[in-house]
Amino acid sequence: MNILVLHGPNLNLLGTREPDIYGHETLDDINQALTRQATAAGATLDCLQSNHEGVLVDAIQQARLDGVDAIIINPAAYSHTSVAILDALKAFDGRVIEVHLSNIHQREAFRHHSWVSSRADGIVAGLGSQGYRLALASLLGTV
Ligand code: DQA
Repeated sequence: MNILVLHGPNLNLLGTREPDIYGHETLDDINQALTRQATAAGATLDCLQSNHEGVLVDAIQQARLDGVDAIIINPAAYSHTSVAILDALKAFDGRVIEVHLSNIHQREAFRHHSWVSSRADGIVAGLGSQGYRLALASLLGTV
């Protein structure tokens, strides 16, 4: 199984960005744990973070060509704005799991709606970095 993990804008700052909300782990910590978890299950996993909407759209389009089976995506702020990322995911045939570190429904009203959710097969929110690992375990069938 080939899995792509996409992280949206400002998630490169994890560890120092509002740690009371997003935790103390860095993006590297998260990606390394996911890579170990995937490798142990005989899967391959690639991670990409971008602050640019078009880069994320391009990566989703490329995933179709690369035979990616599933995408785990934290679209970050683009969750609440990006029809372009939604449309790219709609053109992708594999499974999609949306992850948010924080519980977006407990926060400001503008975070309550995610465009990506209508395409997501599953959503994990509010469980911190553990949410990514649970999303991956679900895809790998190791839950
Ligand atoms: C986030 C929640 C978003 O509202 C926010 O813009 C982020 C991170 C989360 O993981 O909790 O950047 O997606």
